[in-house]
Amino acid sequence: MIDKIKNHINELKTISFQSLEELEEFRIKFLGKKGLLTIFFSEFREIPQEQKKEYGKTLNEFKLAVKEKYDKSKISLSKNDKKNIFQDDLSKPGQPINVGAHHPLSIVRDKVIDIFKMIGFELSHGPDIEDDWHNFSALNFPEDHPAREMQDTFFIETNPDIVLRTHTSTVQIRHMQSNEPPIRILSPGRVFRNEAVSARSHCVFHQIEGLYINKNVSFADLKQTLAYFTKSMFGTAKIRLRPSYFPFTEPSAEVDVYWGLNSETDYRITKGTGWLEIMGCGMVDPKVISNCGIDADEFTGFAFGIGVERLAMLLYQIEDIRMFYENDVRFLSQFKFSDR
Ligand code: PHE
Repeated sequence: MIDKIKNHINELKTISFQSLEELEEFRIKFLGKKGLLTIFFSEFREIPQEQKKEYGKTLNEFKLAVKEKYDKSKISLSKNDKKNIFQDDLSKPGQPINVGAHHPLSIVRDKVIDIFKMIGFELSHGPDIEDDWHNFSALNFPEDHPAREMQDTFFIETNPDIVLRTHTSTVQIRHMQSNEPPIRILSPGRVFRNEAVSARSHCVFHQIEGLYINKNVSFADLKQTLAYFTKSMFGTAKIRLRPSYFPFTEPSAEVDVYWGLNSETDYRITKGTGWLEIMGCGMVDPKVISNCGIDADEFTGFAFGIGVERLAMLLYQIEDIRMFYENDVRFLSQFKFSDR
């Protein structure tokens, strides 16, 4: 019996507690009403007379050791508990919070919208799925125009009159049909072309259409508006207009902005010329205006179409258009607008 108590005393040295719950279990086992100490004390009566003295002494040692163990552990555990609450240094800088970033295409689109809003342009939207008339006929595409062919356009198989719009010029038509001049609109949106996906082209991309219809709108107004735009977007009004062709504008032009040749990258992205093509534009063909029920003798206007991916690739020097659609956060988190 005495050896048993001595074993318990030794065992005490190896016990440790992780929590106040564990300590409470210990208290019940050793100090509780039906605990070990109570049992050993009640057995005192059964101990032969000659052993009583040693038994009593050992049992008292055990009792003191248990109490000491309990008291000390209680103090250190509750200290730890308090430490947990105030563990962090409250003056330390906080954990970084991951703030979302705008998609580079949204940044560029919003910048373009802001610039044109300043001179009175409003937003106008149209559907991604269009009929042949809004996408082609009303815009003066001849019946046999190559843009209508299968390789360029996604047709709905069961109804060849329905297409995924190939450009945002459809919104020019929709807006002119239901609004009176003066009209100043900007139409950002998604467009679709039946093209092989590569680093340079994608079957889905974004355009921003601009349309201004009023009395006496001239080509000079178009040029001034574009110069204002490039000055705000790129910091330079040095632009050139190259003659081009679109069925719905006459005359038509491609717009280049002078980017300069200050670095290796400038040479690369402008192919050594310093000039960058940024959009197509022109004076709205009178036939398009009258197709929409507006008097083409009274009103004239200009239109332009900006490729958003193209602009973003130039501004951020992105070499592969596919990166815009992969949604890799390492790519997406890098962008903010800067005008170089
Ligand atoms: N819709 C033309 C395109 O997709 C761009 C354009 C718009 C050209 C408006 C002239 C005027 O290429």
